[in-house]
Amino acid sequence: MKVCVVGSGGREHALASALSRTAQVVLAPGNPAMSGFERTSVPPEQVEADLWVIGPEAPLVSGLADRIRARGGCVFGPGEGGARLEGSKVWMKELLVAARVPTAQFRAFDDPEPALHYLGTLPGPWVVKTDGLAAGKGVLVTEDRGEAARDIREKLSGRAFGAAGRRIVVEEGLTGQELSVMALCDGQRAYPLAAAQDHKRLGDGGTGPNTGGMGAFSPVPGAGDDLIGDVMERAVLPTLHALRKRGIDFRGTLYAGLMLTDDGPKVLEFNVRFGDPEAQVVLPRWEGDVAAALRAAAQGQLSDRDAPSFSDRAAVCVVLAAPGYPEQPVTGGFIDGLEQARAIKGVDLYAAGVGEEEGRLVTAGGRVLGVTGLGKDLAEARQLAYRAADLISWPGLLRRNDIAEVAAR
Ligand code: AMP
Ligand code: GLY
Repeated sequence: MKVCVVGSGGREHALASALSRTAQVVLAPGNPAMSGFERTSVPPEQVEADLWVIGPEAPLVSGLADRIRARGGCVFGPGEGGARLEGSKVWMKELLVAARVPTAQFRAFDDPEPALHYLGTLPGPWVVKTDGLAAGKGVLVTEDRGEAARDIREKLSGRAFGAAGRRIVVEEGLTGQELSVMALCDGQRAYPLAAAQDHKRLGDGGTGPNTGGMGAFSPVPGAGDDLIGDVMERAVLPTLHALRKRGIDFRGTLYAGLMLTDDGPKVLEFNVRFGDPEAQVVLPRWEGDVAAALRAAAQGQLSDRDAPSFSDRAAVCVVLAAPGYPEQPVTGGFIDGLEQARAIKGVDLYAAGVGEEEGRLVTAGGRVLGVTGLGKDLAEARQLAYRAADLISWPGLLRRNDIAEVAAR
């Protein structure tokens, strides 16, 4: 089987590695640090393949899966209709309410005055989100009502996020532990993957701005089969059925971003793809034929045979980013130490914002590399990931030093 992986980030690198255990992989377009894989600059629609796996949200939201299916291709990834779940937070929240999926109390606004009034009725912390895609950066969570009010005005002015921000969701802030549960869906059935936890904030201790994700780990202590089963029953399956009721045949990954509150798990967001960097800790632990499972989902034919099972090994991924991330990453720095880091047993490197200049690898995006360590437990996996990360450098490299620290204790 030949699989075309669409995208160029760390998640796509992890997908290519997992798929290549049983299939031939071509990356469209991938990046220069994805050595050992065939890459193509041909538009994905025109690549010859038996299966397409679309990594990022933007091409899903703009209907790439529909275009490939229209040509008879077999695609893992929802069409434009299903991708709306991620492309519009307002639409997603309304669907969750209709499906009775637990989620934070909210309202949607186009004008600042009613939004500010609603803000005053919530006890805080307060959350303001852009409706459209903002690469994980369109969300403000704050305990300062004045800051929330300023953010409402700023977002609705269109200055901060352009059209993506002209509509917003204002919602109650939930507190608790966060958890990511991804599930393979074939339109009707869904099978969960191992749970993961992401670190969204830029700085140690969960400080600083929200990012696309600075690191992740899996498994998550306390998130056993019971909790995952509960998330499937209360969040994933009702959402899949609500989509179906709207005529949407969702074949791809439903990713539930959850807060484990005192009242049980509540959905913060749904994504319509594998998480990044969650994929970099979940896929390496997946035992079995990943390509066959994704193809079965794409064909609407998932069965118990495809149910993913996971190794007992733990995985920790530390993201290395360019200076200025997430606001304005400064790129073009020479990357050193990759070979030494890669040589450590139990370490996988997943390349994201990497380019090439004068035959050398350079930073070319905000999140540059994911360094995944695999060990007998989270402590060992974490130690390996940081040992490898310490060997890699470029001017102004940013990283967190506390990925999985609390969980590994
Ligand atoms: P989202 O893109 O909706 O997942 O938001 C990004 C991050 O913002 C989440 O992973 C949470 O850390 C945080 N967040 C989003 N919604 C809420 C909420 N209602 N309460 C507390 N934190 C939230
Ligand atoms: N790491 C969060 C995401 O992929 O949306």
